[in-house]
Amino acid sequence: MRILWRPFGLRRLLKVESCRLTESESLIPLAWTSLIQKFSRAPGIFSLDQRKRFSTMPEIETSQRNSELFSPPSDVRGMTKLDRNAFKKTVTIPVLKVRKEIVSKLMRSLKRAALQRPGIKRVIEDPEDEESRLIMLDPYKMFTEDSFEKTELSILKQLNVNPQISKYNLELTYENFKSEEILRAVLPEGQDVTSGFSRVGHIAHLNLRDHQLPFKHLIGQVMIDKNPGITSAVNKINNIDNTYRNFQMEVLSGEENMMTKVRENNYTYEFDFSKVYWNPRLSTEHSRITELLKPGDVLFDVFAGVGPFAIPIAKKNCTVFANDLNPESHKWLLHNCKLNKVDQKVKVFNLDGKDFIQGPVREELMQQLGPLSKERKHSVHIVMNLPAKAIEFLGAFKSLLDGQPCCSELLPMVHCYSFSKDANPAKDVQQQAEAALGLSLDACSSVHLVRNVAPNKEMLCITFRIPAAILYKNQTLNLENHEDPPLKRQRTDKAFSGEKIQIA
Ligand SMILES: C[S@@+](CC[C@H](N)C(=O)[O-])C[C@H]1O[C@@H](n2cnc3c(N)ncnc32)[C@H](O)[C@@H]1O
Repeated sequence: MRILWRPFGLRRLLKVESCRLTESESLIPLAWTSLIQKFSRAPGIFSLDQRKRFSTMPEIETSQRNSELFSPPSDVRGMTKLDRNAFKKTVTIPVLKVRKEIVSKLMRSLKRAALQRPGIKRVIEDPEDEESRLIMLDPYKMFTEDSFEKTELSILKQLNVNPQISKYNLELTYENFKSEEILRAVLPEGQDVTSGFSRVGHIAHLNLRDHQLPFKHLIGQVMIDKNPGITSAVNKINNIDNTYRNFQMEVLSGEENMMTKVRENNYTYEFDFSKVYWNPRLSTEHSRITELLKPGDVLFDVFAGVGPFAIPIAKKNCTVFANDLNPESHKWLLHNCKLNKVDQKVKVFNLDGKDFIQGPVREELMQQLGPLSKERKHSVHIVMNLPAKAIEFLGAFKSLLDGQPCCSELLPMVHCYSFSKDANPAKDVQQQAEAALGLSLDACSSVHLVRNVAPNKEMLCITFRIPAAILYKNQTLNLENHEDPPLKRQRTDKAFSGEKIQIA
């Protein structure tokens, strides 16, 4: 921001006035607007008392206000290649000249009247007088000395300050505008300019709409310029519908390097964002599940990604079996276990979810739920976060184990994710799970609303203890009345109420 200051004399103003005499009354505001624009590069300060002699003063204020004083120049509209210089603009700001030694005392009393605009100094040096300072005032509130409130005027009087307001030409540059202001000025009028993005380390991950695509490189660059630490902006170019849940992306601006490092809930994860799944919006869900486990518990993470459930849970001194089919996720999962010093606690697999359940999970459950299980104090949890498909994998638990069921309290708790577009998403997800298992979960499940993914699309997590009738071979199913005693007890518990949905 450059602040410009040069005397803008009465003679010049008179000249302006005489030019304007030929204009019709209705053109007065317009004439002033164009004159302001004309002189906007010719900085000046002039006292309002001088200007008060001209009848057009109120119109200046009105027209400046209407054209949004602090928005970028209108000729940036439609720009597709970022030209930062085109954002220069001069605005006229009311200022109050005060002795420098009283500035801090006075500022406390002028909070209402002072300019409140992030990035613009409220007190600047007076180029004409070393001993004075200029206090920038709010151009929407402060026009003449009558704009001061009584209390403000009395403080000014006490401190022997002349309440006369002068005007100051202030040059705004690209740096002074917020990203949303820049995009609103550039993109077609009336169109949505959401400047939001997901941050993944140094990467801003955008999800641009069709009307924003002609401006995609500019939008990416603005995100980089306006967000410290962001050095790359990418746009998703397909929906996440591939097996590994990563998406194809286009680098809009900045570095091509997608190798990144993120912190989530105090753990560090490194990965190549173009090759694995990572969603910063799941951090609350990761910690919600982590909270459910106690030291000594066992976790099977069927779709583990790069480790955001597995690592914090292993850190709680739990034993973790973490699996992912994507060789890249598997590689970074191993790496992140080492990075967070839990590699001794996590056994990592690179299998299809069904093979993981029917192989390593089955083997471990045989041990966990075997004859000695009665002495076992810890719980077993199975997390299945692949919302588009995880429900289909529930079938893999059917008749997984031989022998006699252990007591039902020791049976594993499943936390299975799904999407729903239904008007009653909790009921819908419960029905999806019931259809996959072939039994009713009415009395023994709870559904947690994780997040809203898109309009009318929710991500949910259904939690239930796997019924012995499902897990063990040769069990008779009572489809209607299946109800585990421990869950029956928990039904009144808010966290386990099948009726209630908790919103993350
Ligand atoms: C939605 S991501 C969840 C990752 C991680 N749990 C998280 O919360 O960030 C699902 C993961 O499942 C993996 N995946 C997809 N299909 C799979 C399958 N058939 N078997 C095992 N993993 C699979 C993907 O590679 C991806 O890492």
